[in-house]
Amino acid sequence: MKGWDYSPALESTSHVEIKKRYELYINGEWVKPASKKYFKTINPANEEVLAEVAHANEKDVDKAVKAARKAYDEVWSKISPAERAKYIFRIARLMQERSREFAVVESLDAGKTIRESRDVDVPLACNHFFYHAGWADKLEFAFPNRKIESIGVAGQIIPWNFPLLMAAWKIAPALATGNTVVLKPAETTPLTALKLAEIIHDSGLPPGVVNIVTGYGDTGAAIVNHKDVDKIAFTGSTGVGKIIQKAIAGTNKKATLELGGKSANIIMDDAPIDQAVEGVINGIFFNQGHVCCAGSRLFIQEGVVDTVIEKLKHRMKSLIVGNPLDKNTDIGAINSKEQLDIINGYLKIGEKEGAEMYQSPCDLPSSGYYCPPTLVMNLAQSSRLVQEEIFGPVLAIQTFRTIDEVIQKANNTPYGLAAGVWTDKGSRIFNLTTKLRAGVIWANTYNKFDPTSPFGGYKESGFGREGGLHGLEGYLKMN
Ligand code: NAI
Ligand code: MG
Repeated sequence: MKGWDYSPALESTSHVEIKKRYELYINGEWVKPASKKYFKTINPANEEVLAEVAHANEKDVDKAVKAARKAYDEVWSKISPAERAKYIFRIARLMQERSREFAVVESLDAGKTIRESRDVDVPLACNHFFYHAGWADKLEFAFPNRKIESIGVAGQIIPWNFPLLMAAWKIAPALATGNTVVLKPAETTPLTALKLAEIIHDSGLPPGVVNIVTGYGDTGAAIVNHKDVDKIAFTGSTGVGKIIQKAIAGTNKKATLELGGKSANIIMDDAPIDQAVEGVINGIFFNQGHVCCAGSRLFIQEGVVDTVIEKLKHRMKSLIVGNPLDKNTDIGAINSKEQLDIINGYLKIGEKEGAEMYQSPCDLPSSGYYCPPTLVMNLAQSSRLVQEEIFGPVLAIQTFRTIDEVIQKANNTPYGLAAGVWTDKGSRIFNLTTKLRAGVIWANTYNKFDPTSPFGGYKESGFGREGGLHGLEGYLKMN
């Protein structure tokens, strides 16, 4: 913004300790990898190395799975559910006590703004542990007249867009339902999962109940293919989701997959326009667009198209792109060079297709990976920018005349994760929400999460639900 600026308001990093090197957390101990290999995790906001992290191979994964099996057989499946709950409550409280540290480390390692890691990621992660701790000794009431049993060892593989929150989404329900865990964070964002391992250690959780192994896709594949893993919980790209489905076909492994999305935000002509514009901005630019349920397609009803686009552009001009640790920053760093290349590749395709583009006129930092918030308009329904997940701050805008038309267009995608509807009329909300094929639909709001509410998709967005009662089912055998 020219003319006036906020003074820098940097969150302090002085209270945060990041070790030079992290080992694997297996059987309640920090162990060196059999692979003898380490990789670097960097801060995408300035490309500086934060730490070296162990790269687990098949042997390391085998060790972790054996530890999880032993802990399941000898301890975790035998103690009372109320005892299980105590540990999970303790993990939640310890995380809450160290929440500032978690928020700063998440922003450093992932590039997300401190405002989001502090106000969204970390509190929600704590809430997932609190919520599931409450269920541990009440499962018989959750599923009355059913005989329920835990599954055994859960292999959990998570992405880089919500590193700590995804770890919490996966570990908390697994523990509450009596399973043990081998979890692998994403290669660009391993640090908060390793900090979580410290907390788990301090909570006195019996050794082997939670094991954290770091590494790349090969480490993930070793978990998926390990014969003694009973369940795979994966969040990430549709491509890897398909590989996992093939790998476990014909085995007894259970799976829940939470994959990509191309979610529609729909503004009707009677919508409260200012609130809708703010919701759309939040829906796509929040977390740099690195959100599986990002509202990456906007449908505007004819009649309010010009007003909405003008207000969107106006609002985008005041968005601050920059240092994630600055409390005024709205849009932080893109998670990795690879992801920035993917996003820029899509913008080139848009140019070639003759799309109309608008980027807010902001200064970008000279090092690190950044992308200004971008609108793309005048796109064909078949355009790759309309059909494919970009996973960046890029909003594809289309218009519509009638409700039937927008339902048809919004559903015309291989995905089905989320949607948003903006209108003044309850009847329109009910009409649209029953016809849109999406796992989560928000009305007059967007990107609101709560541990009590199930989350998951249709079609190529995956299957199974996380959170709420439905999320517990993924970790239980039911008769
Ligand atoms: P990815 O799906 O490759 O990575 C997710 C996790 O899976 C990471 O922990 C990774 O190490 C692991 N993994 C990779 N290959 C594996 C394999 N063969 N077996 C088991 N685990 C494996 O996602 P990536 O490459 O980081 O991002 C690529 C695209 O995926 C993004 O541009 C975005 O469109 C999409 N994506 C979607 C996410 C979502 O939440 N829906 C999250 C992250 C990425
Ligand atoms: Mg990193």
